[in-house]
Amino acid sequence: MSFESLWADQSAIGRDPDTGGYTRGGWTPTEREATHWFLDQCAARNLTVESDGIGNLIAWWDPREQPAPRPGVVTGSHLDSVIDGGAFDGPLGVVSALAAVDRLRAEGFEPAVPIGVGAFVEEEGSRFGMPCLGSRVAAGVLSAEKALQLTDRAGVRLGHALEGAGIDPAGLGPSPLLRRMGTFVELHVEQGRGLTAPVGVASSIWPHGRYRFTFGGEANHAGTTLMEDRHDPMLTYAMTALAANKQARLAGARATFGRLSVEPNGTNAVPSRVTAWLDARAADTATLESLLAAITKQATERAERDGTTLEVTPESVSPIVDFPAGLRDRLVNVLDGAPVLPTGAGHDAGVFSDAGIPTAMLFVRNPTGVSHSPAEYAEMDDCLAGVDALAAVLKDLAK
Ligand code: GLV
Ligand code: MN
Ligand code: MN
Repeated sequence: MSFESLWADQSAIGRDPDTGGYTRGGWTPTEREATHWFLDQCAARNLTVESDGIGNLIAWWDPREQPAPRPGVVTGSHLDSVIDGGAFDGPLGVVSALAAVDRLRAEGFEPAVPIGVGAFVEEEGSRFGMPCLGSRVAAGVLSAEKALQLTDRAGVRLGHALEGAGIDPAGLGPSPLLRRMGTFVELHVEQGRGLTAPVGVASSIWPHGRYRFTFGGEANHAGTTLMEDRHDPMLTYAMTALAANKQARLAGARATFGRLSVEPNGTNAVPSRVTAWLDARAADTATLESLLAAITKQATERAERDGTTLEVTPESVSPIVDFPAGLRDRLVNVLDGAPVLPTGAGHDAGVFSDAGIPTAMLFVRNPTGVSHSPAEYAEMDDCLAGVDALAAVLKDLAK
């Protein structure tokens, strides 16, 4: 099947007819539909699928079948999405991986080591709040115990969500799949405007964190409470959002409050509590830490003036990832000097690299730089160049 048909097939799954976007949180019906599509594609190719305790999948192509499973070269990405996300973030890497395997088979290439196509669950953390949830649990960075405490916005526990998808939560923990990942290469749409060539190679991933800011105040009547008598956590939050933007600009970093919960959330009441989630990222750890400290300081000072309270809880912190230079340069060589660039976006590739698996990433040009939005886009010619590049890289790594 051509990349174009695979892409059209897959990208029809769960597309919101109103926004054109996708909402595929881990283990939700739309994400499961995409996962079943993937499994059908693997079956049609006679790939041998292995899964782990959280539902990560690797489908193996091993024409030189050996008595015992051996490590190989794995490529792939994720099928979940952010809330109302684009078509490319994740699925492009999975569909390109299937297309690259088809290409190599059609050429009669016989890999010396198995080639695996991976689909890793809840990469975005859009349902359970933890980025790269599947790979973190697989790598043992997040314990099964901690993972099982996670709940989604409706209060559904992770264990329940797994059971709903037919996965026994008792199997949660470090994944045997990682033992077979000799090398990992993730192809992904670029998510800024950093790439002007069709395909590039990643150098690093910025360190990033998600922090919960809880602003406490006093619920009161919107019409009768004098302005000077209020303890309004919304004001403390509003000033904190402005401070985060300013501090990030000053530091050459990124800070975003993209999620908010207000209690009691009534038009005619001063809120009693505002919970806001900060996503902060920077090129190095020291800058990220000082950015968080500066935002927290300003928020604390404002809370004192407003007579409100503030609690800051880190929900996840992801360290800087420098992909191994030898593997990166090998990819650049195979791709005739493709450009090398860092990214501010997080990826399962970062978790696997941190776990000691030699890992690299390929990026496909994003002409607008828009991502995590239904407007995310890549030209078909660039996607095809991505498949060419991935096939060439797999051929080199599995020869
Ligand atoms: C995932 O794409 C992230 O960077 O948050
Ligand atoms: Mn993403
Ligand atoms: Mn992604």
